[in-house]
Amino acid sequence: MHLTKDEEKILQGEEGEAAKKAMELLVVLGDIYGAEKLIDVASAQVSGVSYATIGDAGLDFLEDWASKGAKSRIFATINPAGIDLERWRELGFKENFAKKQLRIVKAYEAMGMLPSCTCAPYLIGNLPHFGEHIAWAESSSVVFANSVLGARTNRESAVSALASALLGKTPYCGLHLEENRKGTFTVEVEAELRSEADYSAMGYYVSGYEGVPVFKNISPSTEELKILSAALGVGTIDMFQIQGITPESSTRKSGSEKVEKIEFGREELKEVYEKLNSAEEVDAICIGCPHCSIAEILKIEQLKPKREVWAFTARQNKPLVEKYIKNKKIKVIYDTCMVVSPLRDLGIEAVGVNSAKAAFYCANLSKLKVRFDSLENLLK
Ligand code: F3S
Repeated sequence: MHLTKDEEKILQGEEGEAAKKAMELLVVLGDIYGAEKLIDVASAQVSGVSYATIGDAGLDFLEDWASKGAKSRIFATINPAGIDLERWRELGFKENFAKKQLRIVKAYEAMGMLPSCTCAPYLIGNLPHFGEHIAWAESSSVVFANSVLGARTNRESAVSALASALLGKTPYCGLHLEENRKGTFTVEVEAELRSEADYSAMGYYVSGYEGVPVFKNISPSTEELKILSAALGVGTIDMFQIQGITPESSTRKSGSEKVEKIEFGREELKEVYEKLNSAEEVDAICIGCPHCSIAEILKIEQLKPKREVWAFTARQNKPLVEKYIKNKKIKVIYDTCMVVSPLRDLGIEAVGVNSAKAAFYCANLSKLKVRFDSLENLLK
C-alpha cells in the first residue's frame, strides 16, 4: 500500500507509540484487503465499549493506549456501555462490573472521544453526508450510514475503528469504492409488512445472504429503516438499497450481469417469528435496538402502556425525555442496551423485544428467553 511521507513518519514512530501502532494496524489491514492507499475519514464510531463484551483484556488495552497519549484526530463517538452510567446502582447493576465499565468510558474520553454510548450516532450529531468517507464499527449504524445516508464505511472492528479515530484515516477498499456499492441481488417483498417488527424480521431473514440487497415494493419510515439496518447487520450485509428511497438505489449491476432474486413472503415472515420466539411471558419489555429516537419514545407514550417498558436511548435525549415523557410506566435507560448489559444480574430471564437483532443476541449471547413482536402487540 502506498503511504505518503507524513504517513511514513507516523509509521516510524515520529508521532508517538500509539499513532505508530495504529498506523501499523491500518497498513496490515490495507495490505490484506488490497487497498492502494489510505484515505481521510470524517468521523469514527468505535465499538468495544461494554465491559460485558471486552472484559479485563479490553480494559487494560484501552487504558494502556490512553496512557501512551493516544488522541482522536477526528470526531469520534462510542457504542453503548454495559450500564446506565449515572443510575447503575439504582437499577441494580453490580458494583465491580460498573466500576470497570466506568474506567472503560473514561479511557475513551481521555483519548478525545465523545462518551456518547449510543449505537445510533447519526441521531445525536455524528451525521455524515452523502459520499463522505467514515470509519464506523457498529454494524447497525454501518448499514444505516451506507444505505440510508449514502456515506461510505466498511464494518470496522473495535480496534480498527479506534486506529482510524487516532489517525483520521482508513484503507481505501471495500465499500469506500464505488464498484462495491452496487446492488447484487433483489428481494421481492410479497409479504405485507405491518409493523417495525415485520421490517426487522425481513432484515433478519435477508441477513442470511451475502452482498448488497435491493428491496422492491417497500416504503419504510425512518424508524423502520433503522430497525431494518440493525437486523441486516446480524449477518455480513453492510449495505442495502430500496428502489426509489435510498440514495444509491439506481446503482444496480448492469443488465449483462446475473442478479440473484429472492422472495420474502408470508411464509418467510412466519418462519422468522417462529425461530426467534421462545417465550410468552416476559420479565421486561425492552425497546431501543438500535437506540430509540425521541420520536420512538413519544410513540411508546402515545400507546399508554399499562405495564413497565424499558426504553434504551442516548443520554443526549435526557432533557427531552424529562420534559415530555410523563408516563411513569416508561423507564428510560441511557448509555446501554438490552444486549450489552448483564440483564441477568437484574433478575431478568425473559425479555420482550420488537427488534430481531435484539431477539437474536438476547437468546444467543445472554441466554435469555425472548418474545419477539411489534411494540403494539408487546404492550397489549
Ligand atoms: Fe444497539 Fe445494542 Fe441493538 S448496541 S443495535 S441496541 S444490540
